[in-house]
Amino acid sequence: MPVKFYQPENQVPLEMHKVRIVQKLNLIPVEERLRAIQAAGNNTFLLQNRDIYMDMITDSGVNGMSDLQAAAMQVADDSYAGSETWNRAKAAVKTVFGVSNVLPAHQGRAAENILAETFVKPGMVTLMNFHFTTTKAHITRLGGEVIELVDKKGLIPQTDDPFKGDFNLDQLRQTIDEYTPEKVAFVRVEAGTNLIGGQPVSLENMLAVTDICHQKGVVSVLDASLLQDNVYFMKTREAQCKYMDTKEIYHLLASRFDIIYFSARKLGFSRGGFIISSDPKWTQMMMEYVPLYEGFLTYGGMEVRSIEAAAQGLLESLDMEYISQGPEFIAYLVKELDDYGVPVIKPAGGLGAHLNCSEIVPNLPHNQYPAAAVGAALYIAGGIRGMERGTVSEQREPDGTERYAELELQRLAMPRRVFTLSQVKYCADRVKWMYDNRELIGGLRWVEEPKVLRFFFGRMKEIGHWQEDLVAKFREDFGDSL
Ligand SMILES: Cc1ncc(COP(=O)(O)O)c(C=O)c1O
Repeated sequence: MPVKFYQPENQVPLEMHKVRIVQKLNLIPVEERLRAIQAAGNNTFLLQNRDIYMDMITDSGVNGMSDLQAAAMQVADDSYAGSETWNRAKAAVKTVFGVSNVLPAHQGRAAENILAETFVKPGMVTLMNFHFTTTKAHITRLGGEVIELVDKKGLIPQTDDPFKGDFNLDQLRQTIDEYTPEKVAFVRVEAGTNLIGGQPVSLENMLAVTDICHQKGVVSVLDASLLQDNVYFMKTREAQCKYMDTKEIYHLLASRFDIIYFSARKLGFSRGGFIISSDPKWTQMMMEYVPLYEGFLTYGGMEVRSIEAAAQGLLESLDMEYISQGPEFIAYLVKELDDYGVPVIKPAGGLGAHLNCSEIVPNLPHNQYPAAAVGAALYIAGGIRGMERGTVSEQREPDGTERYAELELQRLAMPRRVFTLSQVKYCADRVKWMYDNRELIGGLRWVEEPKVLRFFFGRMKEIGHWQEDLVAKFREDFGDSL
């Protein structure tokens, strides 16, 4: 629980860890930042780490490791088959989720590939609160379709609803009936949601989804990649969870969902991926794909040291002091930005703070990619790298027309145990400056547009000279400061 400060005005989230290994950062001058973002085709994925001060592109695989994780890596048992490391990972999964049927994959999307290969056939639908980029790409690649059934509150940028990732349960029942259970490959709950502001799903809603799936005879799947933040929100926002042990929540979910998968780059603070089930029939159905796509069943494409770190990281995701750090820092950043009047997704969710770019640059149409433009502007403003979570992150419709995102977001992820509060304050300060100069921000157009997952490596060009104007304004306001 948060530590209370004596002077209320001093109240900030207090880290329950200390930093013992540090990495030097670069903050290059604004003129060089301009050159770097233009050389990167205005795509923050294509920036070089040496040109970045705060890397807020993701929390995936970049969280601060604990001393116990680093120690566990030293005892990794490297063998192709039958490694002790894998036995320890299975034991950790058993402790956290209470289940023994575990398959490895090299990361979350590899687990999604296996899931899609097993269940999705052409013409089938998958129902989910909201899609994730790689999940959808695997499903559509196999001729399946994704239908999103998030409750409409989830798409309203600012509300005080605590669980904006919840499914609309009536729509879920109706959609299963409409398509018939045989045509539904699976129902997937993403907890919390990646593309709509890291918003969590309530325990009540998740259990109701599994009840509906069991009644209708449809496979239920939990994407638990962001579950540790979600568990924090259950404990702090949902009355029935307040006195539940974190482990009780993980165990309850594992007993109700047919299949759980996750990216250990997120849940586990390491690298890799896992697919687990309380019923061996599901893991047996998927097992043959592991040696085919990933590697033998006792490593699945993961490096043994990463498996050891993930096993320890999983155990740490039971610890409220560890799992509260991310959401509390995110809430702090969201509050700072909100106090400055910057449009952000509210309430604060997990994963990161999300700038609502449709409000920041309301005159930029979807086809000039407002969320990507704000990302480029923020990098110029402060050497801060976020990730576009708007139209660029969508895929075009099969007929080639652009699919405009429901929300045009620029996500500022908060890797856990990585940034100090002064860095978070710097981030808020530079976002505020960018927001105050938002009338200078212009649009982007495609120069190279890949067909699949274009946001990763597509290149765009700024329309007009707005970026040079932004640099000139920076110099006017900040003098020779970096
Ligand atoms: C909700 C969710 N599912 C799946 C994935 C894919 O995991 P990975 O990056 O390990 O492939 C991610 C990654 O960001 C995610 O956030």
